[in-house]
Formats: sequence, structure tokens, C-alpha cells
Amino acid sequence: MKKKLLSILLCTSMVAALFVGCGQKETPVSTEPETKVEEEAEAPKEEKSGNDKLVVGFAQIGQESGWRDAETASIQFYAGQNVDTIDLKFADAQQKQENQIKAIKSFIEMGVDVIGLAPVVETGWDAVFTEAKDAGIPIVLVDRMAKVDESLYSTFIGSDFIEEGKNAAIEMATLLGDEGKIVELEGTVGASAANDRKKGFDDEIAANHPNIEILESQTGDFTRAKGKEVMESFLKTYGSDIKGVYAHNDDMMLGAIEAIKEAGLKPGVDIKTVSVDGVKGIFEAMAAGEANVTVECNPLLGEQFFDTCRKLKAGETVDKWIKSEEGIYRQETAADDLPNRKY
Ligand code: AHR
Repeated sequence: MKKKLLSILLCTSMVAALFVGCGQKETPVSTEPETKVEEEAEAPKEEKSGNDKLVVGFAQIGQESGWRDAETASIQFYAGQNVDTIDLKFADAQQKQENQIKAIKSFIEMGVDVIGLAPVVETGWDAVFTEAKDAGIPIVLVDRMAKVDESLYSTFIGSDFIEEGKNAAIEMATLLGDEGKIVELEGTVGASAANDRKKGFDDEIAANHPNIEILESQTGDFTRAKGKEVMESFLKTYGSDIKGVYAHNDDMMLGAIEAIKEAGLKPGVDIKTVSVDGVKGIFEAMAAGEANVTVECNPLLGEQFFDTCRKLKAGETVDKWIKSEEGIYRQETAADDLPNRKY
């Protein structure tokens, strides 16, 4: 036992992903395979014996954006408010699919009631979802989709990313008077949020706005730093030919706004902006006249998520897609909207 404790302690210092029992104790779990097996060997017995709570494992992508932090906070806050009935095991996968898969495998070994995750990319989930299914544990996809057979997950809670992309294109066309050259900052390569926001946007431009040209489209990985870096390179290549920038999230747009200003141009005026999410930072930029439009994507999914988990534990059926209701916000009303933003 002493040896086991020691190896857990050693491993904790090399920890790559963290599991947190929300609102309760913190339980760091290493991604180093041998020690992980030792630690988890004890966990299932504890979980299975007389735990009346709803035990949920959630494998979060990481902390790439303000939106993601808001989603994490929403899930952890709700669990923290309901510690008498909910036991949340939370894993931060640090943007790596392999870490999300390791977390899911750990949750299966623990014997949790439901597993939730926001899949960092769309593909590569079949094997681990099948393991969960074989163990009788429902999978709930939260905010991002996975390309798997429908029988491998119970429900998807989240937005219509294609619709968001389409709405962003319509907004861009309106801002540009239906003509001009633009650039596109894409999200994480392979993520449903990036694939679908691109499809929705590009298809709408191709179908209905022939005088808008997408000069270039590159990934900014949903982060502010990458968004700035890629925008700097777009500005070097195309300079003042760029009349608009579409970013798959607000964080990348906030980075792009910095790059535009540093290039001596006025974001929101010389270069129109349309992005997705609706985080406070973009409302501040809109209120300051430095951004034009954000298409909302709701990260406050905590309550819906746990309600769904409760139903699944009780054996109830749930809709295959629990769709978020969202709006479009523009510069004109940003100052008034700002005080009401929750994330
Ligand atoms: O999956 C939703 C996207 O992921 C959000 O738009 C983005 O900000 C996040 O990181």
C-alpha cells in the first residue's frame, strides 16, 4: 500500500491531465499508464458500493478559449451546487484526444453512471465509445459532435454550427454591401465546430454572394495567440485588400483585432469583423467600435447536461439532439447588451 501511495505521489508531480471531483476533493490522476491502473484499481469498488449520487465523468477538451472556460465553469458550478446528489469526475485533456480517451477509459473503470465529453476532434472515437457501450455507460456529447454510429452515444447537447457559419456569412455580406475580399480564421483542425462553421459560411458565400472572395482560410486553433499570429501573416500577404475577417470564435478575433491595430488599420471600420461565441471580450470590442458582429454559441450547458444525465441514469429516453437557442449580436447594441452577458 505504501508503495502504491508513493507511486501515486510521484506520478502526481508528472501529471498531464487532472481529474477533479467537483465541489469536493481533488483527485489528480496521472496519464502514465502503470500508476493509473494502480490508483484506479481501488476506485471502482468505492464508487460502486452504496454511492447513491449521480456519478458523472466529464472529459473536457482544455482551456483554449474564454468560451471553453465558461462551459467548464457552468458544469463545475452546477455540480458544486448539487454535491449532495452529484459526484463529478472532471478531466482536463489539455487539447489532446489521447488524454480524452484515457479519461474515458478511467471513467469506465470507475463505473460512473454517465460519461460526458466535448470531443476535441470529430473522428477516432469508435473504439472507446464501444467500450463504454459494452460497459452499459451512456455517452453524452456536449457542444461538439463526434462522427460515430448513432448507437454509440445517447444524445448531443449543443449548437447548430452549420447554421452559425451561415448566419456569419449573411452578416459579413451585409457589412460589406455584398462585395469585397475577406480572410477566414478556422478553429482546431478536425473539430466539428471548425468543420461545420466553415461549411456553413463557405457554402452561403458560394451560393448567394458571388462578389465576396475568400482570399485565404487558415487555422488559428481557437486561441487568441494563434488568431493574432495568422492574422499578422494574412495582413503581410494581402494588406489593405482585406475588407473583412471571419473567425470561428471570438478569441481568435480578439487576437486578429490586435494584429489589425498593430498594422495601423482600424478593426471594425477598415476591416469588418464577424466571429462566433458571444464572450464578454468581443462585446467590449464591439462597444469600442473595434468589432462588428458576433454569432452567439451558448456555453452555459451545465444544468441541461446534468438533467440529461439524471434522465439517462433513470432509464428515460432523451432527444438525440438537444439544440441550443442562440442569437446574433451587433455593434449597434453592444454597449447595452454588455452588462447582461454572463460569460
Ligand atoms: O465547440 C465550441 C467552440 O470551442 C467555441 O466556439 C470555441 O470558443 C471553443 O473553444
